Amino acid sequence: MSATDILRHEHQVVMLALTGAEKLLNDITSNGTVDIGRIRKFIDFSKHFTDGCHHIKEEKLLFPKLVENGFDGDSGPIGVMLYEHQEGRKFIRYMSEIISDNDELDKSESEKLASNLRSYITLLRNHIYKENEILFNMADNVLRPEVQESLVLDFNRVEEEEVGTGEHERFHQIAHELAGS
Ligand SMILES: [Fe+2]
Ligand SMILES: [Fe+2]
Repeated sequence: MSATDILRHEHQVVMLALTGAEKLLNDITSNGTVDIGRIRKFIDFSKHFTDGCHHIKEEKLLFPKLVENGFDGDSGPIGVMLYEHQEGRKFIRYMSEIISDNDELDKSESEKLASNLRSYITLLRNHIYKENEILFNMADNVLRPEVQESLVLDFNRVEEEEVGTGEHERFHQIAHELAGS
């Protein structure tokens, strides 16, 4: 697997969790049911897998490699991707604040939670589409095979250092659980 293949595969795992998040959102909007336990699980997944395991590989390793190969680091596709990572973090932070120690949400809290959840799901789906269909294809065109190989080694190192061995698998299971598959 090339470095971009690994990231595309992680996108599939994130998309699975987003399917689960959409079910949670539909429960809130259709009958006001807020499954706090599952929402906490989704937020934890988003912080530690989507952001901690996946975005970190893009931001610390793939994007800098693209900049070395002539991409603009501040504007253009990389600038947009970095901005969207920040936006995603904001939605997750707002959701964490709403549910922090709260096991029972009132109507306005539920509405705020639903609105942030909806924005996050839409943002991430569009973000993943753009990376899969545009940025990663550009990356595959400019990164030589040996550069892709060295990125894979760096991904593995980051995974061990920042996430911990075995955690990746655990998050795959959580994504399946959230999606109900
Ligand atoms: Fe990204
Ligand atoms: Fe990504």
